[in-house]
Amino acid sequence: MLKVEGMNVFYGGIHALKGITFEVPKGKITTLIGANGAGKSTTLRAICSLVKCKSGKILFQDKEINNLSTDQIVKMGVSMVPEGRKIFPNLTVQENLNLGAFAREDKEGIAQDQDLFCELFPRLRERLWQKGGTLSGGEQQMLAVARGLMSRPKLLMLDEPSLGLAPLLVQEIIGVIQKISKEGITILLVEQNAFAALKISDYAYVLETGCLVLKGSGAELLNDEKVKKAYLGE
Ligand SMILES: Nc1ncnc2c1ncn2[C@@H]1O[C@H](COP(=O)(O)OP(=O)(O)OP(=O)(O)O)[C@@H](O)[C@H]1O
Ligand SMILES: [Mg+2]
Repeated sequence: MLKVEGMNVFYGGIHALKGITFEVPKGKITTLIGANGAGKSTTLRAICSLVKCKSGKILFQDKEINNLSTDQIVKMGVSMVPEGRKIFPNLTVQENLNLGAFAREDKEGIAQDQDLFCELFPRLRERLWQKGGTLSGGEQQMLAVARGLMSRPKLLMLDEPSLGLAPLLVQEIIGVIQKISKEGITILLVEQNAFAALKISDYAYVLETGCLVLKGSGAELLNDEKVKKAYLGE
């Protein structure tokens, strides 16, 4: 579904991504793990053209998307849930969800999807008229994920959806990601919470200071000695 080949990204003099190559297969969950500053968010931002690649290729469904705008990439079916609960605090839950569907015109489909996603996140259904900013942190995170889904993406990229959540909510959101995947949506997940993420991942990569240093199935990386030491706190 998505292929990244030799991608280089610079922020001024900082070489943030050093020629990384990886794949996100259709219908699967692929996870990127890595320490703070490794370049995980930069990878997602580069894919949806929020930062420019200096070189390399990004192919989505075999089409090169390097030189497209973010808007065009969203319309092709890529959606990103950014790091840190970037919802609109002064808009209601309903209005936030509507914004997620801004590029769609199929009113019925939008209503059906909203129903489906409110089933995934029952808390949101009760709170459609509440202002986003007054939701709890975990609820805001769920709203951010639901809003990302409202564009009915083919590829959903999630940047640390469990950040700052209590352990039970981490499980809940990881469970929802698994359900989303079963709906046929391809997932690229970035997580600090490596254990929870690897458990549900079909494929995973380890990013270290801008380089991909390890790849394997989720289960393989869970059992990898280096991963255990560095990311699973064993
Ligand atoms: N806008 C920017 N300007 C300059 N440097 C940046 C910018 N954004 C990120 N960087 C640098 O690029 C590197 C990679 O950052 P990135 O945000 O991709 O890391 P990350 O893996 O997502 O980390 P975290 O787990 O802390 O979110 C870091 O060294 C960071 O300081
Ligand atoms: Mg990040």
